[in-house]
Amino acid sequence: MSSEVLTHAPGVHTPGADEALGTPAPGEARAEAQARARQAARIPADRPARVVIVGAGLMGDWWAREVVDSPVAELVGIADLVDGAPQRVIAGCGAADPASIAVGADGVDLALEVGADILINPTVPVAHHPVTVRALHAGIPVLGEKPVTETLPEAISLVAHAEITGVPFMVSQSRRFFPQVRQLRQFVADHGPTVITSAFFSLFEEHEGYRRHQLHPMLRDMGIHAFDTARYVLGTDPVAVTARGARPEWSVYDHDATVTATFEMSDGSLFVYNGTWNARGATTWWNSEWRIGAQHGTATWDGSGLPVLTTADEEETARLQAWIAEQPDPDSQPDQIAASLIEFVTALREARTPMCEVHENLLSFAMVEAAVAAVDHGTRIEIDPLLEEAKEQAIAAETHPEARALMQSWTSVRDVLDAWQEAQG
Ligand SMILES: NC(=O)c1ccc[n+]([C@@H]2O[C@H](COP(=O)([O-])OP(=O)(O)OC[C@H]3O[C@@H](n4cnc5c(N)ncnc54)[C@H](O)[C@@H]3O)[C@@H](O)[C@H]2O)c1
Repeated sequence: MSSEVLTHAPGVHTPGADEALGTPAPGEARAEAQARARQAARIPADRPARVVIVGAGLMGDWWAREVVDSPVAELVGIADLVDGAPQRVIAGCGAADPASIAVGADGVDLALEVGADILINPTVPVAHHPVTVRALHAGIPVLGEKPVTETLPEAISLVAHAEITGVPFMVSQSRRFFPQVRQLRQFVADHGPTVITSAFFSLFEEHEGYRRHQLHPMLRDMGIHAFDTARYVLGTDPVAVTARGARPEWSVYDHDATVTATFEMSDGSLFVYNGTWNARGATTWWNSEWRIGAQHGTATWDGSGLPVLTTADEEETARLQAWIAEQPDPDSQPDQIAASLIEFVTALREARTPMCEVHENLLSFAMVEAAVAAVDHGTRIEIDPLLEEAKEQAIAAETHPEARALMQSWTSVRDVLDAWQEAQG
């Protein structure tokens, strides 16, 4: 496909000769191709989704157990570069017939071989881009682990690959799927706008593996969870950030596993994140501890129990607490990756866009990378220029001609995200 054709991508539509002749404009042609790919990805409602997992590490092990337990999915294969790793995960996943689960080294090849409906990708972050690109071009929908990729240019490239293939790609932001998070979102919708929100994460952890050497592990491994949750709960997007990191001498991490970051959001409110793996005692839950201050009320959540919703009016506060009390017990509902899997399979069955589709996820990851840049440069970082810089890097690194031409046609990354949002209705 020529770059001329691709200048008509969604968000940058320019009427052309084709339209004058009455044939669909290329933007429409892409939309039709995307609709066809979505139909092709459709999973019948009368059987579970056939799942291959690529990456049989810590998270692959958790995913395998969830898929085996899930009412909407069945585990048909596991792949890992490390010999014996898939077999170890299969042995512990509780499958009724472990011998029926295929194993391999290449997740995409294995998914094609066994006719999988979905590839779940909990490989290490540096492998997210190459594995997902191959899967999307092979027509296999991907449910990828957070963070979407290792770098922001790679994440922007995946937006382009998702657009040109039309194959569904959702990033599993597991912490968004707690019922309490939905309750906080409802509270903000009813009592906002917010003015200041904080998430505090503190757990003493000495992780083994890639996190020990990762640059900015707290922001990249944990910050992403809170940033995505904040966008979902507050209904606002990031504009700019200032941030500082610390690396105490007792830290086992090469880089800062302690960080503080303050985001300016699109409605003028502030979102403050504090996170550490270096402090002992008085731990928070993995979800962080939340305080959300809004015009008509304040909510707090310890990250595990029920949220506490308050206003300046005693009756309204009592009504809100009664509403929380009558909600189903959070422990009785699927959450985290179990709920994320249900969302992806349901979306594929209904041929609709899943929550956390890569376009929707990009700004959560941009918050991480903006905070990383703010720590590195010691300055306030604005999100949009960072996205444009990353887009240029993505174009320079892109080896797929169509994806490169598509990104070159974009007026700005923000325009592409806005056009996508508008198309969702
Ligand atoms: N949602 C959550 O709560 C949560 C929790 C932990 C980890 N994660 C995410 O899950 C991902 C994996 O983390 P982890 O702790 O399981 O890491 P890990 O190092 O334990 O496991 C990763 C596995 O991927 C394999 N791998 C790497 N590249 C591969 C490739 N190209 N093909 C096949 N296999 C490949 C490795 O051999 C390893 O077995 C990360 O993105 C991490 O951020 C999410």
